[in-house]
Formats: sequence, structure tokens, C-alpha cells
Amino acid sequence: MISMSSLAEGYRAWVFGASGGIGSALTALLEGDARCAAVHSGARSPLPADSKKHPFLFSLEDEESVRRAVDTAIVDGPPDIVIVATGRLHGHGLQPEKSMRALEADALMESYRINAIGPALIAKHVLPKLPRDRKSVFAALSARVSSISDNRSGGWHAYRASKAALNMLIRNCSIELAVRNRNAVCVTLHPGTVDTNMSKPFQSHVPNEKLFSPAVSALHLLRVANDLTPEHTGRLIAWDGQVIDY
Ligand SMILES: NC(=O)c1ccc[n+]([C@@H]2O[C@H](COP(=O)([O-])OP(=O)(O)OC[C@H]3O[C@@H](n4cnc5c(N)ncnc54)[C@H](OP(=O)(O)O)[C@@H]3O)[C@@H](O)[C@H]2O)c1
Repeated sequence: MISMSSLAEGYRAWVFGASGGIGSALTALLEGDARCAAVHSGARSPLPADSKKHPFLFSLEDEESVRRAVDTAIVDGPPDIVIVATGRLHGHGLQPEKSMRALEADALMESYRINAIGPALIAKHVLPKLPRDRKSVFAALSARVSSISDNRSGGWHAYRASKAALNMLIRNCSIELAVRNRNAVCVTLHPGTVDTNMSKPFQSHVPNEKLFSPAVSALHLLRVANDLTPEHTGRLIAWDGQVIDY
């Protein structure tokens, strides 16, 4: 259970990527928060609706679909919290590279398209819609492995680089946003290592206590989002509230 006490009573949440492991857990927790009036949950394929959950369709690879989704959801009122829980590490021509010998232009471009460009286009359409008279949060899920200063093991070239690009794009947007909206917080978040389809092939080296269920990760992420203040804007922040150096 979560109570997003720092957001307005009757707040509205938008989740892009609500079909994913972490995205669906975030949607469920937000829906269960009595303070939350509505969760607009976006995916590539239709999701079930209920009295509080309003599904919408979008694709990261189709900016027009993002524009349409925002135009539809905004009719209900501006969002107090927006989480972009999309991403791709493997599948559809992507396989995390173990060595620079495996670098391929198409895979690099695909990774940038999904992990950096798509979320940045969501930010482009969503950030101007955040309310200016109260706290609001825009958070795109990134990953600790995007930190350049923390990278000691190498590998996973496309994923690391595309998430580092995401951090830069969101930080850049946050600087522009701060000029117009002093109450908004715009960050990237690291959810921990989470038991989802994305991490499945890479879990063998992860100790049990370090592998979160999607529900536990989502709870941590929302607690962090609840504690965020405008001083955090532009940062990459982990599930435990720790600010990660880029
Ligand atoms: N799991 C981890 O251990 C871990 C660790 C660090 C960071 N992260 C980050 O956390 C976020 C969520 O990951 P997850 O573990 O929940 O992964 P997941 O279960 O694989 O979910 C990925 C989500 O991204 C969506 N997506 C992919 N391509 C899309 C596109 N072209 N258009 C629209 N949506 C698209 C998927 O939609 P479909 O259902 O339609 O495919 C799904 O909703 C990602 O940004 C990931 O990089 C995860």
C-alpha cells in the first residue's frame, strides 16, 4: 500500500508502459492509493479498464500516438505524477553485448530509439502539461548501469549508452522545465534489479535478497517519488533514494 501524501488529494497518475513488469505493479499500487483519483495507463495493446483505471494506447516509436494519448488523458485534468516504465534490453534484434566485437549499428540505433528517444518524446509532450501550482513528478525509469562514473565492468554497450542518453535528455528537459515550473520534479529512477521478463535471462548471478519482485520495486519507487522535491530535479535516483552520480 502507498499513500502519496506529497501529491494533491485526488491526484492523477499517468503510467506509460503499464503492461510491463514494473509498470503494471506501479499502476496497481497507484490505483490502490485512496488519495489517487485516476490512473491513466498506457501500453501498446489494450489493457482492461475499471472505474479508476483509464487505459490508453501508445507506441514509443510513433510520436503521433504519444501526442494523441496526452491529448486524451489531459481532458481528465493535468497529471500530478507521470512515470515512463518502458524499456528494452533484449529481444527484437537486441542482445546485450559482452564485448565491443558484438557492436552493431542497427542494435545501437534500436536501443536508442526505445530507451532514449521514445521517453524523451513523451517528456516533450507531457512536461508542458504538469500543473504549476503544486508538486508534480515526471520520472522515466533508467538503470544504475547508465552511470558512466560507476561503470567498472563494461559490456551491455547499447543498453548502457542508451540509458546514459536518456539521463542526459531528461536532465536537459528538467533544466528547461524549471524555468517555467518551479514545483515540478523531473528525474530518472533506478528500480533495482527486478524479477521481470527484462531481467529473466540475467538473474543467475543476482543473490535472492537483491532481486526485487515488481511489487516491492514499485513500492520503493513510489516512496522515493513521494519524497522528491524540486531540488532533486535532473538527477538519477535509485530505489532507496540514493542519488547516483552520472
Ligand atoms: N527489471 C530490471 O531488473 C530493471 C533494472 C534496471 C532498470 N530497469 C528499467 O525499468 C523499466 C521497466 O522494466 P521492466 O523490468 O518492467 O521491463 P518489462 O517487463 O520488459 O517491461 C517493458 C515495458 O516497455 C514497453 N515497451 C517496449 N517497447 C515499447 C514500445 N516500442 N512502445 C511502447 N512500449 C514499449 C513494454 O510494452 P509491451 O508489453 O507491449 O512489450 C513493457 O510495458 C525499463 O526502463 C528498464 O530498463 C529494469
